[in-house]
Amino acid sequence: TIALSPKADGPALAKSQYGVFFEDINYAADGGLYAELVRNRSFEFNATDAGGYTGLTAWTTTGTATVVNDAQRLNDRNRNYLKLTGTVTNAGYNTGIAVKKGEKYDFSVWARAGGSAPLQVTLQTAAGVTLAAPVEVSPTGDAWTKYTGTLKATATSDQGRLTVGSAAPVSLDEISLFPRDTYKGRANGLREDLADKIAALKPGFVRFPGGCLVNTGSMYPYDAANNYPRARSYQWKDTVGPVETRATNKNFWGYNQSYGLGYYEYFQFSEDIGAMPLPVLPALVTGCGQNRATNDPALLQQHVQDALDLIEFANGPVTSTWGKVRASMGHPKPFGLTTVAVGNEENLPEEYWANFLQFQAAIKAAHPEIALVSNSGPDDQGSTFDNLWAKNKANGTDLVDEHYYNSPAWFLQNNARYDSYDRSGPKVFLGEYASLDAKFANSLAEAAYMTGLERNADVVKMASYAPLLANIDNVQWKPDMIWFDNDESWGSTSYQMQKLFMTNVGDRVVPSTVTGGGVITPKPITGAIGLSTWRTAATYDDVTVTRPDGSTIFADDFNDGNADGWTAVQPRGTWTAASGGYAQTDTVSEDTMVKAATVTDTDYDYTLKATK
Ligand code: AHR
Repeated sequence: TIALSPKADGPALAKSQYGVFFEDINYAADGGLYAELVRNRSFEFNATDAGGYTGLTAWTTTGTATVVNDAQRLNDRNRNYLKLTGTVTNAGYNTGIAVKKGEKYDFSVWARAGGSAPLQVTLQTAAGVTLAAPVEVSPTGDAWTKYTGTLKATATSDQGRLTVGSAAPVSLDEISLFPRDTYKGRANGLREDLADKIAALKPGFVRFPGGCLVNTGSMYPYDAANNYPRARSYQWKDTVGPVETRATNKNFWGYNQSYGLGYYEYFQFSEDIGAMPLPVLPALVTGCGQNRATNDPALLQQHVQDALDLIEFANGPVTSTWGKVRASMGHPKPFGLTTVAVGNEENLPEEYWANFLQFQAAIKAAHPEIALVSNSGPDDQGSTFDNLWAKNKANGTDLVDEHYYNSPAWFLQNNARYDSYDRSGPKVFLGEYASLDAKFANSLAEAAYMTGLERNADVVKMASYAPLLANIDNVQWKPDMIWFDNDESWGSTSYQMQKLFMTNVGDRVVPSTVTGGGVITPKPITGAIGLSTWRTAATYDDVTVTRPDGSTIFADDFNDGNADGWTAVQPRGTWTAASGGYAQTDTVSEDTMVKAATVTDTDYDYTLKATK
């Protein structure tokens, strides 16, 4: 029997209760949400970005075609360009460039030529079927100039190839093809079907750009003093301004990121879907298994200044340095930034905390109106880690970011997680969660868990499932909410479940009690057991699952020469089969091994531990 107390004051639900977390993982940006159809448009792909990449990745050529990096370059941030006498053809993403009959596609190219060098621009399938009437653009002078043309598709195909040909020598860069129909018709905009699916969730916030994406590589800025580093951390200033001046970069997830989808576009998209923008800045402590913190105070101060400049970019007047940049990109009105997160899954808590306090001091002094999100550490089994929570509480931190990817059983067994959270401590931002695997039962476990989030809406202020997007041909992480190839997209059952909750957020919780059964009966552990690690270069041996009193529910010699039913479900690093068992030997790891239902126990408050 469920008794409702409609007159009692349950916690209010905020508009930002549920949101989305967009990270460029699984090729979510280039070839995904970012509508650009040409891959490696600026010839900047490089072996540093990913093994096998070259300046001509995704391109085929005839005649003479050479990628060069010399003083004739387009600009200092777009260093490679193509010298061509012949043709160059781009294969796009997945099976090719997707076009729809009757729709228009905007072609553009930066070019310079000694004399006249007319360019033939054609769109055909891989098999040579014409997809649009060719257009011609005519570079004439020896100065970089942008030339444009429009292709109208005469047929529908997901296998298009864009070819640019010149009989005379010409230099080309930033070869681009965009559908005219982007989300809300924005220039340099977003792929409509994907943006529509995200918008249909009615997200209260958009967390971006990562995730581990913000925690990688050199923390120094892109400049000559640092030899234009390619594998550098995600720094927002690299991602704004004209697209041809955004230096591409290695992506944490192992591919090139063009930054065509950058901070301006994230703010614009958030505004377009009525969501609060929530940027995540690197804290100069690289979490995500990398264990590095800067020891350069000047560099830290530079990043703190970048945080202040970001607030100016989002909210400052058009007369301010960064407000002016925003206005020049087409948005004189402020974006209304209210909340900023510092760091992601930081596993050097002391170093992280020291840096967080410096960000906090500077931001709160200049902008007391901005709320800050801190970290809870690598909270991989849903337990608190080190003493970051205690520090956050003593500090009066606004919000603390928690992440967990666990079995469906864990989500069912931990429905009451927030019932006992300290009401006088910081509020919770559940920035990433998902139950492992992608079955309907997972979505039900997540739904059950979300009732616990809502019941505790006075503590859990925001929550976002993760990851959001996955290109079926380039998957680094599963499960994901929305899947796509180059012309189709579809939501998982978890997407549908999120949509049910997100589009039906109430005003407040109606307190209820249950008699004659109870809603949170401890259930046997019969689901999968997940082992998630955040350590480096480790070889794991015994795996144990214990009760709170320390007695063993289950034990397995993890590396005993038998696979024993363990399987890797999130292979980011490398789980190697060691004589039939498994050993984790990768240096950057956050992998999860799952073992199917082998444990039965009625104590749901268990701890899983792997020893080295
Ligand atoms: O959502 C995928 C990854 O999971 C995120 O990048 C990271 O924060 C977490 O480990």
